[in-house]
Amino acid sequence: MKEEKFFKVCKLSDLREMEGKRFIVPSSDDSNDEVEIALFKVDNVVYALSNICPHQHSALIYDGFIENNCVVCPAHGWMFELKTGRQPAGAKGLDVYPVKIENDEVYVAAYSKKYNW
Ligand code: FES
Repeated sequence: MKEEKFFKVCKLSDLREMEGKRFIVPSSDDSNDEVEIALFKVDNVVYALSNICPHQHSALIYDGFIENNCVVCPAHGWMFELKTGRQPAGAKGLDVYPVKIENDEVYVAAYSKKYNW
């Protein structure tokens, strides 16, 4: 399998516990695309998810609140597990991306996705 290409996103200390932040990062698939991601730090673990809610495609996931290891979309309350991006009850989920922490820097390998909406 091809090794993931990680891009530096921010410092670990830029992230606050339980508070999301939005970033635009290059896609790791060499497509020249960019990916909008939401980063969350919960119990000192960093999660990277797509920032685009699959419900009405709002770029609001970063602004969601955290409950039971899920992020809740602030628009209409759809919930997504931080680890898997899956909805505890429902089909559509959020993409999740691998995260690496090195010397207080957060790196993410995110992939653009062609949506068929
Ligand atoms: S846009 Fe996220 S729940 Fe509606």
